[in-house]
Amino acid sequence: MTGNGPAIDALQQEGVTYPPPPGMAPYAVIGSAAAYARAEADPIGWWEEQAHRLQWDSPWDVALDDSTPPFYRWFTGGTLNAAANCLDRHLPERGDRVAFHWEGEPGDRMSITYRELHERVCRFANALKDLGVERGGRVAIYMGMILELPIAMLACARLGAAHTVVFGGFSAEALRDRMEDFGATVLITQDHSFRAGKKVPLKANSDDALAQAPGVRHCVVARRSEEPVDWTEGRDLWFQDIEDAADPDCPAEPMDSEQMLYALYTSGTTGKPKGIVHTTGGYLTGASSTHRTVFDLRDDDIYWCAADIGWVTGHSYIVYGPLANGATSVMYEGAPAFPSHNRIWEIAERYRVSILYTAPTAIRTYMKWGDTFPQVHDLSRIRILGSVGEPINPEAWEWYRDHIGGGTAPVVDTWWQTETGSIMISPLPAVSTLKPGSASRPMPGISARVVGEDGQDVPRGQGGYLVIDKPWPSMLRTLLGDDDRYVETYWSRFPGLYLAGDGCRIDDDGDFWLLGRIDDVMNVSGHRLSTIEVESALVDHPAVAEAAVVGRADEVTGEAIAAFVTLRDGVAGDDALITELRNHVATQIGPIAKPASIVLTADLPKTRSGKIMRRLLRDVSEQRKLGDVTTLANEEIVTEIAALAVANPHQED
Ligand code: WT7
Repeated sequence: MTGNGPAIDALQQEGVTYPPPPGMAPYAVIGSAAAYARAEADPIGWWEEQAHRLQWDSPWDVALDDSTPPFYRWFTGGTLNAAANCLDRHLPERGDRVAFHWEGEPGDRMSITYRELHERVCRFANALKDLGVERGGRVAIYMGMILELPIAMLACARLGAAHTVVFGGFSAEALRDRMEDFGATVLITQDHSFRAGKKVPLKANSDDALAQAPGVRHCVVARRSEEPVDWTEGRDLWFQDIEDAADPDCPAEPMDSEQMLYALYTSGTTGKPKGIVHTTGGYLTGASSTHRTVFDLRDDDIYWCAADIGWVTGHSYIVYGPLANGATSVMYEGAPAFPSHNRIWEIAERYRVSILYTAPTAIRTYMKWGDTFPQVHDLSRIRILGSVGEPINPEAWEWYRDHIGGGTAPVVDTWWQTETGSIMISPLPAVSTLKPGSASRPMPGISARVVGEDGQDVPRGQGGYLVIDKPWPSMLRTLLGDDDRYVETYWSRFPGLYLAGDGCRIDDDGDFWLLGRIDDVMNVSGHRLSTIEVESALVDHPAVAEAAVVGRADEVTGEAIAAFVTLRDGVAGDDALITELRNHVATQIGPIAKPASIVLTADLPKTRSGKIMRRLLRDVSEQRKLGDVTTLANEEIVTEIAALAVANPHQED
C-alpha cells in the first residue's frame, strides 16, 4: 500500500444495532461505561487493580517498567505461581467445584474438580522433577484435547519451567523445529489422539521428530487409544504410570513476574515460525481479567471455549483465564461433526452451557449444515456468545445470535492475537450496543488507534492500520532468541506504536471494524478494498455459506476481484447463480467491489486453526506454483480449486 488517499477504502454501510439485554447491567462484572473512562484516566492503575485479583507471593515494586522500549516489563519485583493461582487458591472455598466437564470424541466422559486437578498436577510435577525439569526448564507438549494436556501445562508452571504446546495436527517436522528452537529437554505426548473418527499417531510422529532432536532426553506418553506404539526403553515413559508413582505433595515455586510462562509458535505467512514469548504476572493478569469481564463470568456459568489448546485461544481461554477465575468449563476432544452434525449442540445441552466461545469459520460451517441441528436441542441456558479468529460476517453474526443465542444473547466479537495474549478489542456484554461485524471498542486499559501511511490518525470512517499505542500487561515480550526480529516485525513501521498487521476503521460512534490482514488488501483501479467487506456481501446472499476473495493481477484494473464461494448444503450452483451473486455484491456495496470472477467450490483452503489462506487463492488465480502449504489443513482442495479456476477464469462483463 503506497501512494495518496486512504490506506483502505471502507465501503460497507452499517445496519442494525442491538442494545445490551435489559436488566443485565446491575448484575454484570462491568455494568457501566464509566469503566472505560476510569481506565483511560489511569491505565496502569487499572491494570494494577486487575493484577491484585491474583495471588502474589511477594508484591511488585514497579507496575510498568518502560525504561527500554519496546521491551516492556510488568509488575517487576513481584513473584507468583501461575499453577497456584489456577488451582491451590480455589481449594479452600471451591475445591469440589468442577474445573472441566471433559468429553472424549468416542463418547467417554469425565468431570474433574479443582481438588482432583490440583492433585494430578502436583503428582505429575513431581514426576517431571524426577526427569530433571526444574525452574527455568523447557518442556514441549504435543497432544490432543485430553485432560493430561492442561495437567502437563500446569505441572510445568508449578515448577517454574516454560512450556511450548505444539498443535496435535502438526507434522513431525513442525514438532522437531519447534522443540529444537525452544530447547526442550522433555516432550510430552500421547499414543494416539481421536479426531473425526480417526486415530492420529502422535507417538509415531514424536518418534520421527525425536530422531532428529538430540536435545530432548525423555518422551512422556499419555495413554489414550491404548493401542500399541513403538517404545524406546530409557527414553520413553507412560504419563499415568509416573504420575501415579509420584508424591502428591509439590510446593508451587514462586516465580518472577517476568519469568517466561510459555512460548507459542505462530507460522505467519512467510519465514521461520516465530516463538511468541509470554511471561507470568502480566499474562495471567490479562487473561484472567478479560475472561471475567468480556464473558461477564458468574458463579453459576458453564463456560465452553470450543477452541484447541494448541492455539493461544486455548491457552488463555481454556486453561489460564478460566482456571485463574475458578470457572467451570467444558472441554471436548473431537471434531464437531462426529458422529453427527448435532454433536456440538448435544454437548452444549448436556452440560447446560451458558457461555460459548468459538470461531467464525465454525459458525459458518454450522450455518451451512442448516438450522435444524441446533433447533432440536435445548440451548436456552446460553446467555453470552463469543467469536474470535477472523472478522465475523454480519450474516454469520445474526445467525449465531438467532439460532444459538435464542435471539437475545449478546455476541462478543473479540479481536486479539497470539502476540497480544488476551482480548484487546471487544464489546462488554452489559454495556455495549452491538453492531454485527464490529468488535466494538478497545477494552478498558487498552489504547488502540487507526493510522495512515504517515503514522497519523486517519479521519473517522476511513480505513488504515490498527496500532496499539500503550503497552499492556499480556503483551508478548519478544520473539524467542530473536529480539531484532521482534523490533523489526512489530515496532519499526511506526516507531513507538505496536503494528498489529490488521486493517481497521473506526466509525462515528468510536466502534472498530476490523478489515482483515493488511497483506490481503486488494487494489482495484486505485481503490484499496478489504477482503472482508466483499466476502460479507457474498455471505449475505441466502445461497452462500462461505466466501473468500483475493485480488488477482489484471492488466486494466491493476487487480481484479476473484471470489471463491461455498454454497449452503442443498443449494445447486449454476451460471445464473454466479451472475446473481456478482450483482448482489454490486448492489450491496457498489460496482467497484463486483467480483470479476466467482468459482464455486466445496471448501476453502484453511489453516489448521480455521483461517482462510488467501495467499494460496491468489497463487491459484494467477496460475502460479503454490507457495508454502505446510500449515494447510485440507491440501486437496487447492488442487481442485485450481482446476476449476483454470476451466472458468473470467466472467466479467
Ligand atoms: C489474527 C491473529 C486471537 C486468537 C486466535 C487467533 C485475526 C482474530 C479477530 C476478530 C477480526 C480477528 C486478526 C489477527 N482476528 N480475532 N475478532 N476480528 N480479525 O490468533 O492466530 O495470532 O491470529 O486473527 O487478523 O491479527 P492468531
